[in-house]
Amino acid sequence: MHIIHIAAEMAPVAKVGGLGDVVSGLGKALQRKEHLVEVILPKYDCMQYDHVPDLKALDVVIESYFDGRLFKNKIWAGTVEGLPVYFIEPHHPAKFFWRGKYYGEHDDFKRFSFFSRAALELLYQSGKRPDIIHCHDWQTAFVAPLYWDIYATKGLNSARICFTCHNFEHQGTAPASELASCGLDVHQMNRPDRMQDNSAHDKVNTVKGAIVFSNIVTTVSPTYAQEVCTAEGGRGLHQTLKSCSKKFVGILNGIDIDAWNPSTDKYISVQYSADDLRGKAENKDAIREQLKLSWSEGSRPLVGCITRLVPQKGVHLIRHAIYRTVELGGQFVLLGSSPVPHIQREFEDIAKHFQNHSHVRLLLRYDDALSHLIYAASDMFIIPSMFEPCGLTQMIAMRYGSVPIARKTGGLNDSVFDVDDNMIPVQYQNGFTFVTPDEQGLNSAMERAFQYYIKNPKSWQQLVQKDMRMDFSWDSSASQYEELYEKSVARARAAAR
Ligand code: GLC
Repeated sequence: MHIIHIAAEMAPVAKVGGLGDVVSGLGKALQRKEHLVEVILPKYDCMQYDHVPDLKALDVVIESYFDGRLFKNKIWAGTVEGLPVYFIEPHHPAKFFWRGKYYGEHDDFKRFSFFSRAALELLYQSGKRPDIIHCHDWQTAFVAPLYWDIYATKGLNSARICFTCHNFEHQGTAPASELASCGLDVHQMNRPDRMQDNSAHDKVNTVKGAIVFSNIVTTVSPTYAQEVCTAEGGRGLHQTLKSCSKKFVGILNGIDIDAWNPSTDKYISVQYSADDLRGKAENKDAIREQLKLSWSEGSRPLVGCITRLVPQKGVHLIRHAIYRTVELGGQFVLLGSSPVPHIQREFEDIAKHFQNHSHVRLLLRYDDALSHLIYAASDMFIIPSMFEPCGLTQMIAMRYGSVPIARKTGGLNDSVFDVDDNMIPVQYQNGFTFVTPDEQGLNSAMERAFQYYIKNPKSWQQLVQKDMRMDFSWDSSASQYEELYEKSVARARAAAR
């Protein structure tokens, strides 16, 4: 099959969060299954250009419609992680992707509706006729209604559209009139059965549009797929999702097991594997030295936490975990920053409070290299999310032998299984979980983890080895996507006959 991903992110060249990892991880896994996979991204000024050394401008100019006229787009091509990628550089006076950042601009709706339209124009004008166009999150959700409204009648009609929502918190809403910029028919689209927002009727909702107009709709774990079909979890879209239940499914993400591999990882002090854990202890010493944590008491468990500090991640519980860890006799290392100024300030205060403390360090920044060392050095890893569509850190932590302490929600519920849960076969038990998102809930899981670590060092080691051997690769998830694509393509062919 010929599969095109249209996305706002792709790791490592243009990554903000997990979405970027999924685009490259899933893309590579499908490529390994012999599919032709290509990606279309905006050409951001702030991308990590060193990850596309062969980047070059193509000899084509693609014209695309916006606000009543045609704009020229320069097209760049290069290879990222072995995948062919096209980068769209619009010649538009608003300089949509020359902002020094990926998101968070006042005109994001315009920026990404422009990009979605231009990406479809690129396919159309270059003669590409993919079997699957896979778009992700609200930024490229425009692709589904645009395809249905404009391109399907233009001859670019061979493709089936797959839409993946990585987080229903972000739905891309705007006054209905804004849809006209990219050429969508506002009157046609602003209807309750199409793009009209379910609660604000003067607005359109791009995620709703993609749900309605795609052939396949997915989200990133089976539990989250169930949660978003309820009134509490669906953020206004549960009815829309329920009415599309035949084409909606949750597929757990994988992780890139080559990029995250403690036996080859260049960012850690000593490489190690499940068969020989000595290197793991050396990484713990290394981080203690680097961060000036006390390391005289070797038996203290080190708790790691790597996260964006946003309410979704349970910031109040992360704060609580820091203090509780100290009370329980452990050490805590947090890496992450917050786009929310008052949360960032609050954590800066906590960091200051602990700056000379022997057992706590808060590093309030994004630091890829250090993140590898924290996974390798930590014994436990804390993920107390309020909701979590999938979550990748719990899987990476396990691959590095850091046992997750996680709230049972979304993808965490599909990947972390409590060691004390008798309903779970022993071979799957891999962490400590709690249900109620409050301090008592978290305490109970942390206390059990500390007890286990201190009282049963042998069993703890076996748990670490079991976690490291769990299969979180993309292979099985990619097979599920492959099957969905194939079925959808077959259905379209049967209908055309
Ligand atoms: C979003 C979700 C996260 C998920 C990621 C990749 O960032 O919040 O849970 O792992 O997308 O799908």
